[in-house]
Amino acid sequence: MPPLSTWNPADPSRLFYQTRQRRPLLDRAEGVYLWDRNGKRYLDGCSGAMVSNIGHSNPRVLEAMRQQMELSTFGYRLHFENEPAERLAAQITDLCPPEHERVFFVSGGSEAVESCLKLARQFAYATGERSRWKVIFRSPSYHGSTLGALAVTGYQPLTRPFVPMVSQMPTVPAPRSYLDRDSLTESERGTRYANMLRNKIIEEGPETVLAFIMEPVGGASTGALVAPDSYYPRIREICDEFGILLIYDEVMSGAGRTGCFLAADHWQIKPDIIALAKGLAAGYAPLGAMLADSRLIDPVLNSGGFQHGYTYAGNPLSCAAGLAVIQEILERDLMSQARAMGDLLKQELRGLMDTYPFIVDVRGKGLLLAFELAQNRETMQPLPASLNAYARLVELAYERGLIIYSRRTRDGIEGDHFLVCPPMICTPEHIAEIMDKLTDSLDALQVELDLPGSST
Ligand SMILES: Cc1ncc(COP(=O)(O)O)c(C=O)c1O
Repeated sequence: MPPLSTWNPADPSRLFYQTRQRRPLLDRAEGVYLWDRNGKRYLDGCSGAMVSNIGHSNPRVLEAMRQQMELSTFGYRLHFENEPAERLAAQITDLCPPEHERVFFVSGGSEAVESCLKLARQFAYATGERSRWKVIFRSPSYHGSTLGALAVTGYQPLTRPFVPMVSQMPTVPAPRSYLDRDSLTESERGTRYANMLRNKIIEEGPETVLAFIMEPVGGASTGALVAPDSYYPRIREICDEFGILLIYDEVMSGAGRTGCFLAADHWQIKPDIIALAKGLAAGYAPLGAMLADSRLIDPVLNSGGFQHGYTYAGNPLSCAAGLAVIQEILERDLMSQARAMGDLLKQELRGLMDTYPFIVDVRGKGLLLAFELAQNRETMQPLPASLNAYARLVELAYERGLIIYSRRTRDGIEGDHFLVCPPMICTPEHIAEIMDKLTDSLDALQVELDLPGSST
């Protein structure tokens, strides 16, 4: 095989992903930066897809992986237990609410969500509640790309082609109280949104409802949506009232990104089942996990076992990476850093609202932050979808060596939000560089799309 560095990027790629768009070849990455083969440097302002929480090429993680590779990279979980998986499970449960003492490893977020849905159903099945199968979800939301996860995802471009192939699950509006123009207080709005779940459960028939799934801090589909504080305990109360399992999808918000190990910790909520991935091995290896307590697991195991599993689950290499990532987070106190840098970055992003009237909201927790564009703050009407502002700003920033992540805010059809979520190791200097490049990109967008406040 010729050396990798002789590869000519002009050759047609045999790979394909979502679009035809080609990107430069990645050369190397270190800390918060990535370099392409032309030597251009990019600041990773969204940690890839909110994954690289401790930055790139961390020496401790690379060394832990190297050591594990010398020993074994794979041992099938039904043939062997392995120390990295055992130790990582213990480490994760130590960082979670006390009852979450059982862990099921997978290789990513969609697999983690599938596992949560199937555990919930198997628990109901094993405990004689077989009429329960509906999982209520929020719209918009994103829970993964597999068909089971898509059935509880509210993001039209991703779900539309597959509608006949997935179960039709009930949905409630995501608590986007920042769009509301009523006379309620934030706390009243939170309760109002939570009560929509109660109404939906009654409408569907409580005996048919299995679970409610939510992202405690939103991800790609809502742009770091945080509900009013009153929402979280009220949702827990409603689930308890009807014996419905509460699933927190912490694939993006978990593993420290919001400044706590779980976003649930901000409200001291104990969900019944939790999905983790992304930041768990922080881009060093594919890894995800489902957490639940023995109350759920034991009846399932006693009734013939959990009818679910993935070949690569709990492989020693991914778990060794995950273990080193968590050690790094704890020893360097990166969750405190995420809180401090998150406060600073949020303040800077809020400052942009003084200059750009088309920035209508800045939200999020810790370093899971986003801002949204619209025509104005009074009506919150989105910009015309045809302007494609969500894609243009990302390109303008990319040209300037800053990577940010965007999606359509309103069910994937219109609206523009941008996630600005650098690694938790970022410093005030990195934030200054992000803001410099972002301001420059926003100036260019304002002129190009003739947005309000533009001098042209
Ligand atoms: C909240 C949430 N759940 C699930 C997923 C799916 O994870 P993966 O892409 O690792 O399958 C994502 C990915 O963005 C996510 O943000």
